[in-house]
Amino acid sequence: MNLLVTGAAGFIGSRYVRTLLAADAPDAADAPRITVLDALTYAGTLDNLELDHPRLEFVHGDIRDADLVGKLTAGADQVVHFAAESHVDRSILTASDFVLTNVLGTQVLLDAALRHGVDTFVHVSTDEVYGSIASGSATEEYPLEPSSPYSASKASSDLLALAYHRTHGLDVRVTRCSNNYGPHQFPEKVIPLFVTNLLDGAKVPLYGDGLNVRDWLYVDDHCAGIDLVRTRGRAGEVYNIGGGTELTNKDLTGLLLEACGAGWDRVEHVEDRKGHDLRYSVDWTKARDELGYRPRHDFTTGLAETVAWYRDNRAWWEPLKQRVSGGKP
Ligand SMILES: NC(=O)c1ccc[n+]([C@@H]2O[C@H](COP(=O)([O-])OP(=O)(O)OC[C@H]3O[C@@H](n4cnc5c(N)ncnc54)[C@H](O)[C@@H]3O)[C@@H](O)[C@H]2O)c1
Repeated sequence: MNLLVTGAAGFIGSRYVRTLLAADAPDAADAPRITVLDALTYAGTLDNLELDHPRLEFVHGDIRDADLVGKLTAGADQVVHFAAESHVDRSILTASDFVLTNVLGTQVLLDAALRHGVDTFVHVSTDEVYGSIASGSATEEYPLEPSSPYSASKASSDLLALAYHRTHGLDVRVTRCSNNYGPHQFPEKVIPLFVTNLLDGAKVPLYGDGLNVRDWLYVDDHCAGIDLVRTRGRAGEVYNIGGGTELTNKDLTGLLLEACGAGWDRVEHVEDRKGHDLRYSVDWTKARDELGYRPRHDFTTGLAETVAWYRDNRAWWEPLKQRVSGGKP
């Protein structure tokens, strides 16, 4: 079985690929062969991948390159699509890359998947497509009301993917997950940004009153959920994948300060993000009941392991942090 995975030089995709490669002996005949397609933007790094693994091939390229994507999908049985511009703050500064990669790039992939008869196409979306939800949790039927150019571009690609199922019968499955955390996350997102700043003796920027609520999902739980959707999910269906730990940004900051042995004097209160959604929350009953999904990582342990990983892996994040400057959560 040949699997094409896009965007797997980034945080979640690379973890997904490593997990699949580790599940079987390196030369197991029936284990999936994986081709990673990644443009290596500022967010992607080959350090995230086990490049010498016999079942892994890396292709440096863009999902918007129809010729290249056509060649790769011709040899693929399944596609798992992670590639995206993923940082909300960047989409507020300039939205064009978000539209071009997240919307146009997804359409190029869907066209190629259709043309070459790909069996299954898993589109990795986000809980941000539902917009802010004051109370309760969004089921998969909840209306899409994205607030940022990032989430609007993800909602567009998510709907395009579902449209390829309804219009053409392509076996598309969409996942909508909450905020991921874990090792190898680019140090511009809130947890790795705060941890690496604290390890460097710098301040951390807390948006507004810090009362925005996010649900936290350990990256391995997300990867397990995606693989359940790929292997057991149904065509044309959406599956929410949640983590089960809702925290305000202020509470999260407190936990990170404690984990790094720092005090509140290291927190700099900054102007709130434009259009900042107050709360995201997904109801993942469907994934639990249909696929047997449940998050297995306890947040306290997962966070401690994540902080320890950043403490022990400066060589991974220091060059990445130098690539970008002034990143905020
Ligand atoms: N990180 C989260 O908490 C989170 C939450 C919900 C959904 N998601 C979604 O999960 C997916 C993966 O997120 P992530 O956090 O791993 O992102 P990331 O930013 O760490 O990685 C994105 C990867 O995509 C690649 N890429 C970007 N543009 C490309 C293009 N035009 N062609 C080919 N490759 C390209 C980058 O080089 C990078 O390796 C995204 O679709 C994102 O929207 C992430």
